Amino acid sequence: MKTSEIRIVVQEFENIDELPEPDLNLVLEARRITAQAYAPYSGFCVGAAILLDNGKIITGNNQENSAYPSGLCAERVTMFYANANYPDSAVKTIAISAQKDGVLVEEPVKPCGGCRQALAEAEVRFEKPIRIILDGNEKILVLTGVESLLPLSFSKKSL
Ligand code: THU
Repeated sequence: MKTSEIRIVVQEFENIDELPEPDLNLVLEARRITAQAYAPYSGFCVGAAILLDNGKIITGNNQENSAYPSGLCAERVTMFYANANYPDSAVKTIAISAQKDGVLVEEPVKPCGGCRQALAEAEVRFEKPIRIILDGNEKILVLTGVESLLPLSFSKKSL
């Protein structure tokens, strides 16, 4: 038997103003689109902003449905739109923000398992690590590579 360790590197920023400018812009875009989420059932609004390697920023938010499972998270709404419209542009960075009752959450928002899997697909598809920015009022976390969110993941490499 052998035991190994998987290391995750997380950069922590106390304040949005500490972020490098492109990241700061992306977080502001995520915050802006969060306010337009359709979340009448949970009241939990999530927004995502994706920077593509062609320089474009794509934004999206969660879209809920009265038939609950028919709704979709902000990350996947945004990623699928980006991939549908710019199939040749790698995803460089995604910023994710969330609001409860119109107020930015304290703890940085963490993507659900399904969204982590969708992020992993984009990373494998474009063969480029994706930077992930998790926004919160208390702090902002930055991770490089979906491996940091979803270690030991299933991908086409396994098929
Ligand atoms: N939600 C997201 O949009 N992204 C996540 O990563 C977690 C959850 C949404 C789904 C649902 O509309 C609401 O937040 C409450 O779960």
